[in-house]
Amino acid sequence: MTMNQSTKQPVRVAVTGAAGQIGYSLLFRIASGDMLGKDQPVILQLLEITPALKALAGVVMELRDCAFPLLADVITSDDPMVAFKDADYALLVGAMPRKAGMERGDLLGANGGIFKPQGEALNKVASRDVKVLVVGNPANTNALIAQQNAPDLDPKQFTAMVRLDLNRAISQLAEKTDAPVTAIKNVIIWGNHSSTQYPDLSQATVNGTPALDLVDREWYETTYIPTVAKRGAAIIEARGASSAASAASAAIDHMRDWALGTAEGEWVSMGIPSDGSYGIPEGLIYGFPVRTHGGQYEIVQGLDVSDFSRGKMDATAQELTEERDEVRKLGLVK
Ligand code: NAD
Ligand code: LMR
Repeated sequence: MTMNQSTKQPVRVAVTGAAGQIGYSLLFRIASGDMLGKDQPVILQLLEITPALKALAGVVMELRDCAFPLLADVITSDDPMVAFKDADYALLVGAMPRKAGMERGDLLGANGGIFKPQGEALNKVASRDVKVLVVGNPANTNALIAQQNAPDLDPKQFTAMVRLDLNRAISQLAEKTDAPVTAIKNVIIWGNHSSTQYPDLSQATVNGTPALDLVDREWYETTYIPTVAKRGAAIIEARGASSAASAASAAIDHMRDWALGTAEGEWVSMGIPSDGSYGIPEGLIYGFPVRTHGGQYEIVQGLDVSDFSRGKMDATAQELTEERDEVRKLGLVK
């Protein structure tokens, strides 16, 4: 146990799949204060499947070896009822990866077996204000499964990660316009964390200039959008493994902005339950532009939607509707 010099009470942060690749980057960033602030002590509550507990014990040894001042305690378990007990934040990273020959429906079914009991456990034992981020793929529909199995929690407490897509979209635009990433504002990721996502530059600015005045329309439609949407596959191809450090970094960004708020006038994108805004079917967990304040998020309203955007937004909503229909057939959601 490390000394903690903060006067704040520790908060409980549950992480599933904690011995995996993303966990190996994520836990150290949370424990060092990157997620909730340099004055906020944390208790990590780590969930793994039984065969991975030994590897997890090794990760915990390393966490302790960092002597992080903010790390108040670490708990490990293979039981979600233990790992989610009183959790203020839950990052659901552990999921069944797609294997050769698996269809989308097989993956949804396999992950239903993980996210249904985890939703039920969150419902029973987590803090009533828990903030849940689902990272494990298919993230949006896994978030829907967990949410629908936690009827005593507010549906808005369940979110899915499109932040990695947003960070990729910002970085690609920065490179193209030879601007620092800090010059780029209000890029949006609409929809699913999948290749149907819509990285939208229609509201984006670079040093205050509309981004679409600075780049060629042809490049935007035929290079930029597919590059961002297929970046995950490109990384798997290059690295022989899916993105991990960048995924962990995006999870930190998502939770930090949700907990601590976005800067004045700035938006981020989060996968959140649709309230019907922008004609997106209610209930789907869909990437929207949001502002956050005081631990709450709200959708940025009143944006113009061109015919091009409408087509892209509807296509990714359609994919999420199909995913919902599949998990509904499996009895995982209403
Ligand atoms: P990984 O295989 O290295 O680690 C996953 C870990 O989850 C493993 O240690 C495994 O034992 C554990 N696990 C499996 N079932 C579990 C359960 N029921 N409870 C607790 N733990 C369980 O995978 P990774 O590279 O860390 O990626 C994790 C997930 O994140 C994958 O689904 C991946 O596709 C997804 N991902 C999402 C994004 C995104 O932007 N949303 C980006 C990258 C990766
Ligand atoms: C990513 O976007 O990097 C991952 O979601 C890719 C994947 O399929 O794991």
